[in-house]
Amino acid sequence: IKTIIFLIVSYLVGSISFACIICNKFYSTDIRRYGSGNPGSTNVLRVLGVKPAMIVFTADLLKGLIMVLLGRFFGGENLALLSAVAVVVGHDWSVFLGFKGGKGIATSFGTIIGLFPKVGLILCIIGVLVVAISRYVSLGSVTAAVLLPILLLIFKYPAKYVITGLTLGIIAIYRHRDNIKRLMAGKENKLGQKVK
Ligand code: G3P
Repeated sequence: IKTIIFLIVSYLVGSISFACIICNKFYSTDIRRYGSGNPGSTNVLRVLGVKPAMIVFTADLLKGLIMVLLGRFFGGENLALLSAVAVVVGHDWSVFLGFKGGKGIATSFGTIIGLFPKVGLILCIIGVLVVAISRYVSLGSVTAAVLLPILLLIFKYPAKYVITGLTLGIIAIYRHRDNIKRLMAGKENKLGQKVK
């Protein structure tokens, strides 16, 4: 019962959309109506600029990291792993946004830092390089999502870690399905392309 309550709390914390809250409160903007329509830091950057995007990215990352650390504190490693998935599911299918939401990259990254920091650092470096070279944030996100379970296998993490990483990777790829279609059609938004 403690596990279930903690996972519900993780889901609810994940459901808090910092993109929606910050854009509404400080910019009177419903971020879901502009750019890609995604309530995430990439779209906040695209529509409103660097400062709110950094705040949203940090807050989304921290909610993932904090729930993993709390999960480990209250229930050990298994609860930390389950909580990682719950907080990302909350972000992507938020109860406060009618079960719509973001794509979970910043929040997943927060959970990855908490669960497997070495792999998180490698994914961050690769992701940033892919974005810098291609100018597509979504390509960096999808690349990291594919590499996550592969790196966990390479570093010989136990099966439960690999399964968690695979789950986070599959969720991220599923949430990027429209981006993947746009990438393949050459119609994806490039970094630095501003819209309003
Ligand atoms: O993390 C989200 C990013 O990979 C794509 O965002 O707004 O271009 O769909 P967006």
